[in-house]
Amino acid sequence: MSVGDDQPTALPVFADVDTGVDDAMALVYLLASADADLVGIGATGGNVDVDQVCRNNLGLLELCGAPEIPVSRGADQPLSAAMRTAEDTHGPAGLGYAELPLHHRELTSYDSAEAWVRAAHALPGELIGLVTGPMTNLALAVRDEPNLPSLLRRLVIMGGSFDYRGNTTPVAEWNISVDPEAAAEVFDAWGRAADADAIAPHQLPIVCGLNLTENIALTPKVLSRLATAADTATTAMSVLDARGTRSTADNHVIRALEDAMRFYFEFHFDQGEGYLAHLHDPLAAAVALDPGLIQTRATTVDVELTGTLTRGMTIADWSRRWGRESNAHVGVGVDPEAFFDRFIERVGPFARRLAHS
Ligand code: BDR
Ligand code: CA
Repeated sequence: MSVGDDQPTALPVFADVDTGVDDAMALVYLLASADADLVGIGATGGNVDVDQVCRNNLGLLELCGAPEIPVSRGADQPLSAAMRTAEDTHGPAGLGYAELPLHHRELTSYDSAEAWVRAAHALPGELIGLVTGPMTNLALAVRDEPNLPSLLRRLVIMGGSFDYRGNTTPVAEWNISVDPEAAAEVFDAWGRAADADAIAPHQLPIVCGLNLTENIALTPKVLSRLATAADTATTAMSVLDARGTRSTADNHVIRALEDAMRFYFEFHFDQGEGYLAHLHDPLAAAVALDPGLIQTRATTVDVELTGTLTRGMTIADWSRRWGRESNAHVGVGVDPEAFFDRFIERVGPFARRLAHS
């Protein structure tokens, strides 16, 4: 707690994203959280190309009436793999059917890798890193500043899939699959720092894989609760609605989130998963602020780089057959209701306040 008042001390967070519908929800969650100070945003190509990710990040800041938080352009290509994007999942511009406001915000003159290093140097031992896209920028940052693992207070990664199927190949999750070499470099860097006793156990990355994040299934019913918490009238979404039906919410933040989520619901429905959407990245953002939201197990994680069928697969050596030190805390349990309660109690009033400001 801060001295002299009951407000929690805001935790400085640097978020590296490939925005993306659920990345957008994660950023809104951070902006809505009184215990978070979003000190910078890195963009990487992933769900959409990096320039569109930058546009989405800047537009979201405008939508949320945020201060001039630095947004940096990052890698437009993985370290060595060919670039892939996922407009089928997130919409042609990455935010489903949502439209963001016009603005005059600009990108930083330096790139995302440098932004990571600058933020870590400015807040040594305090900064919380969050990655909800491919880890290209972070891998480049560690090449530039090998002490990054010890400079960060905490690192939370949305990526991988542990003892669970993939969502990009049968065994690989999207963020890792786009740039497996980057992910491998990151796990290796933190592992080497742990071997050298340069970091404490709590500085090992907390990894939120699909085995965890697919428990966080947002439904129209939960989205209606969010609108209620924002004090806005809206029309509940239904699987029976015509595709692309636009939100009727009079609150501009809720309207954008509903329009974005509609596309994500439709994608999940087409995948046979029901009229719902998995909030992978918002869970990781919530864990960045409060790791107590999930249960984790320390283990050694590595990334398959060469398998013809398994490239991009994340492997956790639960039984320690590799004889290597732990390099990660893998998320293994979460209470979705606790997450949704927290998400709604933060984002709802935040959206309400913005509409009245
Ligand atoms: C991850 O892939 C992206 O499409 C999402 O934004 C999330 O970060 C889930 O596999
Ligand atoms: Ca993402």
